[in-house]
Amino acid sequence: SRPELFDFHGVAMTHFFTDNWENIQNFQARSDDIVIATYPKAGTTWVSYILDLLYFGKTAPERQTTIPIYERVPFLEICVPGLDSGKDLADKLPTSPRLIKTHLPVQFMPKSFWENNSKIIYVARNAKDNMVSFFHFDRMNGLQPEAGEWNNYFQRFLEGKVVFGSWYDHVNGWWKKKQTHSNLHYMFYEDLIEDTGREIDKLCSFLGLSPSAEEKTNVTRGVQFDNMKKDKMANYSTLQVLDFKVSPFLRKGKVGDWKNHFTVSQNEAFDEDYKKKMRDPTLKFRTEI
Ligand code: PPS
Repeated sequence: SRPELFDFHGVAMTHFFTDNWENIQNFQARSDDIVIATYPKAGTTWVSYILDLLYFGKTAPERQTTIPIYERVPFLEICVPGLDSGKDLADKLPTSPRLIKTHLPVQFMPKSFWENNSKIIYVARNAKDNMVSFFHFDRMNGLQPEAGEWNNYFQRFLEGKVVFGSWYDHVNGWWKKKQTHSNLHYMFYEDLIEDTGREIDKLCSFLGLSPSAEEKTNVTRGVQFDNMKKDKMANYSTLQVLDFKVSPFLRKGKVGDWKNHFTVSQNEAFDEDYKKKMRDPTLKFRTEI
């Protein structure tokens, strides 16, 4: 049966992400850890794959064909009975650096990441496409609350009544953190779509990496949507709890799919609400592409 949402310190969560809370909060970060932080469905897997190839594509190419991406890059806060928790997987990672995924809002980050000044990459995606992607994910994922009908989901998303809470709070919270914390690279899904190579260059300069032109081409090609979609180690098809008859995990990989879901009046209501919630003019999403 699907889990229920409840209010957890002001953020909608399910027990799969709070059951292990104390251990998560006490997680021992390392200074060379690299965290990929996102609101769900903003491009986590894409950036995880880029980083995995940049760090290990040359030295451990077998990783790409034998270990699913969600094990190469453990999901810190997930805790599902019968499976290793994300925290345990992260503790056991043999690699250096360790690549770690999280969807935690900034105020929930284990303090050890700040104390050790670990590098953090935040990926943000425009709210409309993010909502659509999340809707289809909730439909296909048995560990998520029921998605229900689109119209209802639309309303719930605006109210932050989806797992990990309000998109608005999430992207704004992390953006605010970036203003005072230099080891945080804030990037956008739409920019990755526009020019993957350019965004990989920016990532490399943040991370202090200097791949050869050939390595860079390999990474850029390897992480193209069509490649990842047919790759069992990247497309999540090895995860039993997902129902691929309902939706693929790598579903469309496009900017603007919201136009196939939003009605005209939903779009108006959305824009009105958006203006009220997105007050910081320095945080700009290209919602109109
Ligand atoms: S999760 O469950 O939060 O980790 O999901 P996440 O990986 O953040 O988001 C999944 C969406 O990202 C799209 N995706 C990509 N788009 C373009 N190119 C590549 N290589 C790529 N890889 C993943 C994926 O298709 C999901 O978006 P939608 O719009 O649903 O297709």
